[in-house]
Amino acid sequence: MKADFLKYQAQTTPHPLSMEVQRAEGSYIYDTSGKRYLDFVAGVSACSLGHQHPRVKKAIKTQLDKYLHVMVYGEYAQSPAVQLTKLLAQHLPDPLESTYLVNSGTEAIDGAIKLARRATGRTEIIAALDAYHGNSYGALSLMSNKERTAPFRPMIGDVSFIKFNCDRYLERITVKTAGVVLETIQGGAGFVVPTNGFLNKVKKRCEEVGALLILDEIQPGMGRTGKLFGFEHYDVTPDILVTGKGLGGGMPIGAFTASHAMMTLLSDNPKLGHITTFGGHPVIAAAALATLREITESNLMADALKKEKLIRSLLIHPLIKEIRGSGLMLALMTPSAHIASDIVLRCQDEGLILFWLLFETRAVRITPPLTISEDEIREGCATILDVLNYVVED
Ligand SMILES: Cc1ncc(COP(=O)(O)O)c(C=O)c1O
Repeated sequence: MKADFLKYQAQTTPHPLSMEVQRAEGSYIYDTSGKRYLDFVAGVSACSLGHQHPRVKKAIKTQLDKYLHVMVYGEYAQSPAVQLTKLLAQHLPDPLESTYLVNSGTEAIDGAIKLARRATGRTEIIAALDAYHGNSYGALSLMSNKERTAPFRPMIGDVSFIKFNCDRYLERITVKTAGVVLETIQGGAGFVVPTNGFLNKVKKRCEEVGALLILDEIQPGMGRTGKLFGFEHYDVTPDILVTGKGLGGGMPIGAFTASHAMMTLLSDNPKLGHITTFGGHPVIAAAALATLREITESNLMADALKKEKLIRSLLIHPLIKEIRGSGLMLALMTPSAHIASDIVLRCQDEGLILFWLLFETRAVRITPPLTISEDEIREGCATILDVLNYVVED
């Protein structure tokens, strides 16, 4: 299978991990040789309830027997999407009430950019240096790393950058700014949490100049930080909220949420201002609804904080300089990219899945399913500590 994978399936890197997957259940993935891997990555924060969660599976199966795709997004009322958007509204503060469902995080970011431009009549979008918001042209244009974007130029116009957690840049947000797009916790940059009321300062500045605050919760959202949305930790409400990944419980989804009045701007003047065929797909929406119900009706969010404490207490080693992040969105900071890579690869050999971050190459990602047990955490952390004894410092 590996040879065919490399030959026929378009690749993203010259050296993919290439595990040949047989099946997955709970916190474990099994390869075709029967080897078991403990999953400390959860499909890069997407499998919030682990693999094959019974509630998600049941919702998918039930919906499969009713109907699949029946019409493009927005024409027919389909119960899974209606219930999902209603439940999201019930868990969100005012004025976040109306949700547009799409197929991926990057699409949701593009929708949010369009909405901000449409709602303000302005064009400038401001993002943070080292942010990651996705790979379609709108989201990619918010990437400051020119090495990665230059070959694909031109990006969309009128995008500029501020530095996350740096007040000096706030005055770059002006009356020309349509929207400021920020990850609530920066992911690719190294799981950088907002400090010194940074998000509140950005929101205040946005209010002063009439710009919109767009928070990307595609990674920190859906309970991963111990609250349903990361912004709840920082006493700030975005004008547009973007979600994805963990919302789908392992199925592909993206969503952006705003006030009802703002969202109607996408359906009028011009009408069909944002359209999609498969957004709000009934099976995917059913999986997301089950996921959201499970996260909000269980102790998973409170437990995420206990599990964070456990991980922090176990992973003490001279090669771990710092553990960044919040809840079950954690990054081990090692002395070098070489060491980080060595840890990821050796752990995979030892049956533990870890992964890298996009821009902070010294970091090792720990974003397990929210459903991981304390015993599984102990097992995975013991593997990391074992492996660290063999890692060679460069
Ligand atoms: C913060 C953030 N925004 C946006 C995206 C893009 O989401 P997707 O890959 O579903 O398009 C990601 C994916 O890693 C992400 O972490």
